[in-house]
Amino acid sequence: MKVVSVVGARPQFVKLAPVAQALDGAGHEHVIVHTGQHYDAAMSDVFFADLRIPAPDVHLAVGSGSHGVQTGAMLAAIEPVLADAAPDWVLVYGDTNSTLAGAVAAVKLHLPVAHLEAGLRSFNRLMPEEHNRVLTDHAADLLLAPTEVAMNHLANEGLAARSELVGDVMTDVCLQVRDAVAGDAPPAGLDRGGYLVATIHRAENTDDPDRLRAVVAALEALPVPVLLLAHPRLRARCEQHGIELGTGAVVVADPLPYPAMVGAVVGSRGVVTDSGGLQKEAFLLGRPCTTLRTETEWPETLADGWNALLPGLGGLDEVAVRPAPTAARGIPYGSGDAASRTVEALARRVVGE
Ligand code: UD1
Repeated sequence: MKVVSVVGARPQFVKLAPVAQALDGAGHEHVIVHTGQHYDAAMSDVFFADLRIPAPDVHLAVGSGSHGVQTGAMLAAIEPVLADAAPDWVLVYGDTNSTLAGAVAAVKLHLPVAHLEAGLRSFNRLMPEEHNRVLTDHAADLLLAPTEVAMNHLANEGLAARSELVGDVMTDVCLQVRDAVAGDAPPAGLDRGGYLVATIHRAENTDDPDRLRAVVAALEALPVPVLLLAHPRLRARCEQHGIELGTGAVVVADPLPYPAMVGAVVGSRGVVTDSGGLQKEAFLLGRPCTTLRTETEWPETLADGWNALLPGLGGLDEVAVRPAPTAARGIPYGSGDAASRTVEALARRVVGE
């Protein structure tokens, strides 16, 4: 079986790592196409190095732009690569503009396309990621879902026949990395168990200057140190609107490589974020998470208060430092074998075999 993976943004590299390993382990041919959506070393190269992902076979160097410009440039650049490779499957990951571009390029060429992390929904049609998820799921031939909830969403949209539950590949990686970093010292000289890890990068928190100012002020006012791992988008918007980062409780730092990020969460007392992946990682690592959004694509994390949605910011100073719940967390994201189940599902459904 020949598979082309289309990736481009940070969370996709994490998802690619166990899939690349499983494809290689089963002796399949794998071509990695990097769109170049993320291009800073800290957002791209370190993930390939740390997670031992083979270097991309093709790098399209598309870079940043408005949604239409960026997605359109990717679409045009991916098409000849896929036509030339003629794989059994084009595999797209998650919900970024790279996902949508890869899916559209593949269907237009009548190449079978599989969507990994299918069926997630926020039901918030203002989110670019929601457009990307819905459009990709409806274009794809095989929908590889991480959870039962995702399977239900796909069934509700008439897509059950194309859907298969494989578990969450980010869980595979998180569980593999967790034990290796458990003893690492917390970053920036922070005390173990005494700080919060924060990330903010979603358009709904960064693009409106009043909202951005309120989010940064709420983090500054927290009663414990806040390690703010600043995504380039956050830094760019703060600079644009004259918002200073790194005052009050906030200790500002660059985005961390994946193992260091897992280590930082393990060493923390909790997480404040608007990232989807980090909500889940906090849950898997047993740290309470506060999510600065109105909804989550990972509702399993809300069970027993492990994750709390706090879009209004009111009471953040208490909610963010609440103790970890004592309730057991269950295993809604699978037990770490989602990548091998993904590869089995692809191999079973190769058209013409
Ligand atoms: C993208 C995804 C989002 C994902 C996030 C993970 C879409 C619509 N959004 O958001 O779902 O959670 O990646 O990080 O695809 N920039 C740099 N260097 C880089 C990349 C970006 O400086 O390597 C800056 C640029 O100013 C750019 C901005 O960040 O304009 C936004 O980048 P973009 O790729 O458009 O979206 P993200 O916010 O990273």
